[in-house]
Amino acid sequence: MATGFDRLAPHYRWMERVLAGSKLQHCRIAFLDTIPAPRRVLLLGEGNGRFLVELVRAHPRASFMCVDGSVRMLDCARAQLQACGLNGDAVQFIHADVLNWSPPAEQFDLIVSHFFLDCFRRDQLEKIVPVIGALATREARWLLADFREPPKGWMKWRARLILGLMYLFFRRVTRLPAGSLTPPDGLLMASGFVLRERRLFDWGLLHSDLWVKEGDFLTTDASG
Ligand SMILES: C[S@@+](CC[C@H](N)C(=O)[O-])C[C@H]1O[C@@H](n2cnc3c(N)ncnc32)[C@H](O)[C@@H]1O
Repeated sequence: MATGFDRLAPHYRWMERVLAGSKLQHCRIAFLDTIPAPRRVLLLGEGNGRFLVELVRAHPRASFMCVDGSVRMLDCARAQLQACGLNGDAVQFIHADVLNWSPPAEQFDLIVSHFFLDCFRRDQLEKIVPVIGALATREARWLLADFREPPKGWMKWRARLILGLMYLFFRRVTRLPAGSLTPPDGLLMASGFVLRERRLFDWGLLHSDLWVKEGDFLTTDASG
């Protein structure tokens, strides 16, 4: 269970401001203006609600399910909505470990997992991504901002250093299962998602992705 994040929750906002300024938030909201209005949104590991606030503001008619393993992160997200004068009635907060979560029998046209999949080892992602992918409607969007390691040059070594320090910190403070980054791209593709657009930030250390579920369209019958 991600209870280690409870310790971090009250400090998460200022730590982000000091260490990353507004870079992570730019990644989170990169595609907010371009996605079609969602009806039902699933947010995984939303944390203290920085993206949730912007999403509710942009799409006040949608309904939201926010799943997080940290009670205190969920409390922060609730408080953040209130502080911004937004209606929290449309947001369902669920305290659950995604690894053991039994998803509801419903579908979502928008999935959001910002800075969340990097918490897991490959074997855990192999479990999580297909389960979440199966909850997506046809043409659902999946917004995913996260860290990455550029393929070569000084940017790769810079990223390695930063990621190494980050994992050291998060493993110690939150007991994070992952010790390094596992790109989830192949698992998203195997779940029927296609990368529509990727934007890079901070010399390639950060990326923001717009994935679209198009699996249904790929299974055309060409035999006749
Ligand atoms: C690195 S924080 C990212 C928070 C936020 N999405 C952001 O953009 O900054 C990871 C979040 O995922 C949650 N989390 C980590 N492991 C989890 C798990 N197994 N199940 C549910 N939530 C988890 C943590 O409680 C935390 O809120």
